[in-house]
Amino acid sequence: MADHAPEQAGLAWWQREVFYQIYPRSFQDSNGDGSGDLAGIRRRLDYLCWLGVGAIWICPFFRSPMADGGYDIADYCDIDPLFGSMEDFTELLDDAHARGLKLVLDFVPNHTSDRHPWFAESRASRNNSKRDWYIWRDPHPDGGPPSNWLSHFGGSAWTLDETTGQYYYHAFLAAEPDLNWRSAGLRAAMHDVMRFWLCLGVDGFRVDAVTNLVEDDLLRDDPPNPDFSRGMFPDAKFRRVFTRDRPETHEFIGGMRDVLDEFPDRVLIGEVHLPLARAMAYYGGERPYFHLPFNFQLIESPWDCRSISAAIDQYRMLLPGSAWPNWVLGNHDEVRLATRIGDGQTRVAAMLLMTLRGTPFIYNGDELGMRKVPVGHRQTRDVRVKTMGSHRYSRDGARTPIRWDSSPGSGFTDSDCPWLPLGESTNPEDVARQQTDRNSLLNLYRDLIALRRETPALIGGELVPLPTCRDILEYERHGRGQRLRIALNMGGKEHRIAFDGHWRVMITTFRDRAGETVSGRLTLRPHEGLIAEARS
Ligand code: NOJ
Repeated sequence: MADHAPEQAGLAWWQREVFYQIYPRSFQDSNGDGSGDLAGIRRRLDYLCWLGVGAIWICPFFRSPMADGGYDIADYCDIDPLFGSMEDFTELLDDAHARGLKLVLDFVPNHTSDRHPWFAESRASRNNSKRDWYIWRDPHPDGGPPSNWLSHFGGSAWTLDETTGQYYYHAFLAAEPDLNWRSAGLRAAMHDVMRFWLCLGVDGFRVDAVTNLVEDDLLRDDPPNPDFSRGMFPDAKFRRVFTRDRPETHEFIGGMRDVLDEFPDRVLIGEVHLPLARAMAYYGGERPYFHLPFNFQLIESPWDCRSISAAIDQYRMLLPGSAWPNWVLGNHDEVRLATRIGDGQTRVAAMLLMTLRGTPFIYNGDELGMRKVPVGHRQTRDVRVKTMGSHRYSRDGARTPIRWDSSPGSGFTDSDCPWLPLGESTNPEDVARQQTDRNSLLNLYRDLIALRRETPALIGGELVPLPTCRDILEYERHGRGQRLRIALNMGGKEHRIAFDGHWRVMITTFRDRAGETVSGRLTLRPHEGLIAEARS
């Protein structure tokens, strides 16, 4: 990998590099069972280096009954046989490091699987030593659940356990009992899990569902949500006042950060789904929490010029002084980017992601322009379809395998039965075809990542907003003697934009203007974006 310009020496790797999220079951199958695995990821490291990303985050591959895609963990320190062995993992880690790639794991502190031995002990009797590692409460005096708290995945968040006659709490599935972070013993055990992987050499963690870590100890009912309407997620019926973002959460994240900081040069990334102002507290203050609490603005905002401009500005205004920004366009829980914003906008989105100030995260397949793949009822895997009673809650369409080439299993698998369907061969062109097509979305991503790497202003430079006009989103990046202008046409019509002074086009989304000199006016075609550098 190319050396970084000395001007960027002050920035940490997690500030400079582009992150790439891998959904391991769908990335590359190496043993013909139809599911991706760790050896498969290892085989594709050359692809990631070719693309130019500098860090990978891999979703859970730990021992799991796979009730919730592996987020239901039965052993934090072992690999599920579906994904391979510990040897496969250490080989992957070594190979990634040998190529200069950082590797970040998913850490799931909110809950385990109900098959975790800790839960087996905890549920066995009221007075066993791990009883308080989970959240157990007596029934409400009326005999029902202790409070009105709802699961994110449908129904009550309490399940009665006949063995001891108490309810246990689960923010997600009944098969995912919540851990009790108020227990010092549990905290120590979870810190040791972190140390186990950090000692092996992983470069950090993406911490799952972290705003769910603590609930009100008085078990107060969540209040009704006056804005609730049909079409919203069922648990939006109540405002999560007592079940999310409780004050003690910060203290416990501080504890995780202390453990991480026992090891040099690691990163802690938080899955923080909260209104922006509250999410910012997850950076910490005097006591640091996350290096990067995820910023989901580009997913949550409507995809139009004014809304995106407002989302960028709000984030800039609320970001604490020393905090480093980050940007996410998609992940395994959301509708595929190309489906959400439309094929026409995927190039503009790529340019936006690579030119905003902050660490970019790419979800695997978005660099190809993958659209939601239709998954029939019989092929459904996502448990939410069952627990929430409707196919519209399925996340399967965003989790389908990567199509590497045009062979029968698309280079993903030798099996006739991939775990989820591969989708149409034109959704989108496969990796091999896009690699040979200079004009593909994939090659645009690659060139944008390369440009970012060699352009200090794109990494460390300030972002200076410009007025929006109709569908044109514009901003400049200033730094280290460079002045760059980014202009993105987020609409389907041509627009003219004005340049003062002389500029040189560095790259455009359609790849046919690089090197052109611009002064005065320039017409941006529908869905066209450009990056230009000031010459005078
Ligand atoms: C967030 C993860 O991204 C999602 O896939 C999972 O179902 C929930 N947390 C529960 O772990």
